[in-house]
Amino acid sequence: MTKKNYKIAVIGGDGTGPEVVAEGLKVLKAASKKHKFDYQLEEFDFSGKRYLKTGELVSDKDIEKLRKYDAIYLGAVGDPEVKPGILEHGVLLRIRFALDQYINLRPVKLFPNVWTPIKDKGPQEIDFVVVRENSEGLYASTGGYLKKGTPDEIATQVSVNTRKGVERCLRYAFEYCTKRSKRKQLTLVGKTNVLTFAFNLWERAFHEIGDKDYPGIKREYAHVDAACMWFVKNPEWFDVIVTDNMFGDIITDLGAMIQGGMGIAAGGNINPEGVSMFEPIGGSAPKYTGKNIINPLAAIGAVQLLLDQIGENQAAIDIEKSIIKTVAKMPSMAAGKMGMSTTEVGDCVVSGVGS
Ligand code: IPM
Ligand code: MN
Repeated sequence: MTKKNYKIAVIGGDGTGPEVVAEGLKVLKAASKKHKFDYQLEEFDFSGKRYLKTGELVSDKDIEKLRKYDAIYLGAVGDPEVKPGILEHGVLLRIRFALDQYINLRPVKLFPNVWTPIKDKGPQEIDFVVVRENSEGLYASTGGYLKKGTPDEIATQVSVNTRKGVERCLRYAFEYCTKRSKRKQLTLVGKTNVLTFAFNLWERAFHEIGDKDYPGIKREYAHVDAACMWFVKNPEWFDVIVTDNMFGDIITDLGAMIQGGMGIAAGGNINPEGVSMFEPIGGSAPKYTGKNIINPLAAIGAVQLLLDQIGENQAAIDIEKSIIKTVAKMPSMAAGKMGMSTTEVGDCVVSGVGS
């Protein structure tokens, strides 16, 4: 068998992005030695700095280049000097949409010895996965202004929910739930009592697909506001959650908090038939830049998800085991309070992966 050789595009991005990505890449190197696969990295400098200097974001040509990789590894976008929305739309959402990364996969897993603000709940209770639709909903940029700048101004922002888009997301979630050896329970999170058109489509598709193709998966439903309550009160009720883009964005920040904070929460923007992109879900944390105090574990967790997606499953499992050993040595997941520097946390995970 020929040795596998993956092509990985690396976007360090803004703020602490490049620092945490550097730690993730150290761990990738260790995992590749141990599990005997090769890879080539190519860096892309999409960032606030480049935008301020050249006015460039992610062009059509860049997208064509990115299509040739096996995966993309992203640090963070967001620069306080750039008006909010420009980098988000021009880099992050641009790549998600152009490469049709229609799933945003966000595990919410509390590791042993990690502090959670939820009293009396531990790793047994906090272990679920959110499958967030990542290509439509309120993120579709449909809407506009009427009479802008006048007292009669009207602004609309429309949630786009296509049967095709909803169905492919639900099917991914059902499949994911089937493979995950937990409770085989999929919860649709929505707002059927108010968003009666959009979530009626979700609900119908959910039950049709479930009845026809996934009779072994138990189906549950929760309104998004109630789901927020249960994340705090009874997180053990969840196994796999599927929801739309906006609700998924919101509930996964809450999810990140109960799993120990942004320092440890990783996610994947997945196109199961194309090129996927993996990232720590927190932002660029500009105030911590260059201080060697930011937590790189979310970025290292993103490498774990990346390897899992490209088929290096054992390497992914090893990285998670090593993260679990590492967190046991850290008094906190917060920047500057980890009892170790950014690079030391990276070293610790590398040594746990072994060679
Ligand atoms: C996330 C972020 C992005 C989103 C922003 C930066 C556009 O909050 O990945 O959750 O809303 O999806
Ligand atoms: Mn978010």
